[in-house]
Amino acid sequence: LVRELVQRFRNARRDPALAVLEGFHPLKHALRFDASVARCVTRDVRGLLELCGELAPDLVDKIERVTHEVPGAVFDELAPLPPDTGVIAIAMRPAVSAQRALSDEERGAPLVLLEGPAHRGNVGAVIRASASAGASAVVTTGTLDPWDPAVIRGSAGLHYAIDVSRVEELGDVRGPLIALDPEGEALVPGSVPSNAVLAFGSERRGLSDALLSRADRRVAIPMQAGVSSMNLATAVAVVLYAWRLAADHKGTKASA
Ligand SMILES: C[S@@+](CC[C@H](N)C(=O)[O-])C[C@H]1O[C@@H](n2cnc3c(N)ncnc32)[C@H](O)[C@@H]1O
Repeated sequence: LVRELVQRFRNARRDPALAVLEGFHPLKHALRFDASVARCVTRDVRGLLELCGELAPDLVDKIERVTHEVPGAVFDELAPLPPDTGVIAIAMRPAVSAQRALSDEERGAPLVLLEGPAHRGNVGAVIRASASAGASAVVTTGTLDPWDPAVIRGSAGLHYAIDVSRVEELGDVRGPLIALDPEGEALVPGSVPSNAVLAFGSERRGLSDALLSRADRRVAIPMQAGVSSMNLATAVAVVLYAWRLAADHKGTKASA
């Protein structure tokens, strides 16, 4: 039975239909946004429910219902880096089409497009910021799986609050394609349309010439002299909140 459990968690890490949620925060957000949890184990049920009572009292009953306790030595075999919060789960990935998100004519909030990102923690932080700001989706290109367990750790499970998917190659894109590029025109609050596709480059190389030449506009976040670029996730947060704060302000003025 122990071997079977260990094998199940190992297989889940490579299964494109499943997501491995390492730790309490990914589990919390996944459950709050209606993930279907297939297996959830802890090394200490009492400790987990106490933590849940402190941090997410709304989920105590749900977590108690889905979680089983296993010995600490077994728990430690379920992930390369067993989470400190002593809980790990397997959940279903929602079915999301990257191409459908990119060619959506009715998009009501910007879509974040990451071209060939390399760093799992960064992609997780992008998804977290995008879910917070209310973006419509995050789409990645390149080989990194945006549902990798380390990315889900970085997003604290907010993959379940926003559509997250990957395409090998960028095809049809609807809505204004805005390339975020330190060489572009300065970002002006209120200038990011809600139907935009906001493209961000990889950590090492920035945006490709192919993407820059397809873009309708190139926009730069102003920086102090001598600074060459911002961190990818920070740049995403700045642009999304430039959109979000202007949209909220317009809404407040309209209803006053
Ligand atoms: C870490 S940066 C890439 C740095 C890379 N060495 C380069 O030369 O472009 C990752 C991405 O964040 C975005 N970015 C970072 N700072 C930016 C800024 N000040 N203005 C616009 N976009 C920025 C760009 O899309 C960039 O490709």
